[in-house]
Amino acid sequence: MSDFKSLPGFREFYPEALAQRRFLFQVWRQVAVRFGFREFDGPVLESLELFKAKSGDEIEGQLFSFEDKGGREVSLRPELTPTLARMVGAQANSLKKPIKWFNIGDNFRYERMQKGRLRCFTQLNADILGEAGPAAEVELISLLIQTLQGFGLGPDDFYIRLSDRNLWMLFLKSRGFEDAAPRILEVVDKWERMPEEAKAKRLIEIVGEDGSTALRKAIDGFLETKSVEDVLSTFASASVKSDLKVQIDARIQDWEYLTSGLEAMGLSQFAEMDMSIVRGLAYYTGFVFEAFDRAKVNRAIAGGGRYDSLVKKMGGPDMPAVGFGMGDVVLADVLAERGLQPKFVSTIDIFAVIGSDVERPIALSDINLLRQGGFSVDYSFKSQAFGKQLKVASSSGARFALIYGSDELEKDEVTIRDLANRNEETASRSRLLSLLREKLG
Ligand code: HAM
Repeated sequence: MSDFKSLPGFREFYPEALAQRRFLFQVWRQVAVRFGFREFDGPVLESLELFKAKSGDEIEGQLFSFEDKGGREVSLRPELTPTLARMVGAQANSLKKPIKWFNIGDNFRYERMQKGRLRCFTQLNADILGEAGPAAEVELISLLIQTLQGFGLGPDDFYIRLSDRNLWMLFLKSRGFEDAAPRILEVVDKWERMPEEAKAKRLIEIVGEDGSTALRKAIDGFLETKSVEDVLSTFASASVKSDLKVQIDARIQDWEYLTSGLEAMGLSQFAEMDMSIVRGLAYYTGFVFEAFDRAKVNRAIAGGGRYDSLVKKMGGPDMPAVGFGMGDVVLADVLAERGLQPKFVSTIDIFAVIGSDVERPIALSDINLLRQGGFSVDYSFKSQAFGKQLKVASSSGARFALIYGSDELEKDEVTIRDLANRNEETASRSRLLSLLREKLG
């Protein structure tokens, strides 16, 4: 065993694992292109400041950061969103809106190792910039759903938990907790995993002993919200000031737009309103959502939301934005649990069986031509008995073996053996390429 082990959380991909990985990327890319998204990329190394300022405290503690040889404080990217916001902001005027971009790339977070969490993982990011209305959310959530459907997952396997930081803010404002709202949402983000005493203690720290009971009741009540009708009744029961009422009504209309858009696309069974999702990243402003497996045995497959102020904070113009990231680790776990990871068998088109070193130069010349012609061709490096080479040819998965024996080459011919049924025919070498094109399409 080597002492030079790979680092914890960094994977090695042997060919079979790499084929699985490519399959994920292929579906990601196919579906994103189908939705009219264009692929882009940014640097994997950025200034440390970018993520400290934009991603928030939770991620700050997980940065792979160091000082480079020029004395700059830098970090590997833990996520792509701040980079995207900067890139779009820098060329905002010349880019056609809405901007629909996607990326497939590696991200790095120094996380505690656990199921579904590694230190280097790949994300599909899909984002829409320049559209303020919920039409962008409909587009992204349907992309997220179709992507997961593209792997064979259905409504019994996964669902999207839809929530809204904006509605949370309006709700907390209506209950008199406006000033403490950002800190309250930090607690809500961890609510599911928090023991009872810890919840009580945090709420007292935030609003004091007196307010904490009312706040606790308010949070528990709002977490029960499961539909637009529930939202309506939540706000109907409180005496709400008229300016707040206007904002609430507008927000309810956005919810109606979003849910009816998903319904029109036939995707309602995949989405549920779930106010426990508020998302840990610092920049989210409106709708937020996460995709989970129905059995809830895995962490989130994907997560995202609206971040309307980030482009401006990155030095660009005021530009609304919404997007999501889907990681390869949880997705691969979910697919494996359901037996949906296809088995990959590596195959080639042709295996050349070479009689002896006398025939080798002619065979090599044909092999090179066939490869230039687009076929995948393999052969043994050493002279070996025909029988042995034919065995290797069969196990290589090749469709055809080309046999270069002395009898054939005397007539400038080659024997083509169909490895599926062992039928053989001879062909003149000059016709080999066109004949194989006919046979292999
Ligand atoms: P996020 O929720 O931090 O969001 O990550 C999105 C997804 O990336 C997660 O649901 C998970 O599948 C995967 N992921 C995150 N951390 C790890 C890890 N340590 N190991 C394996 N997988 C991981 C974001 O990153 C946002 N930037 C997404 C976004 C794009 N929001 C708007 N646009």
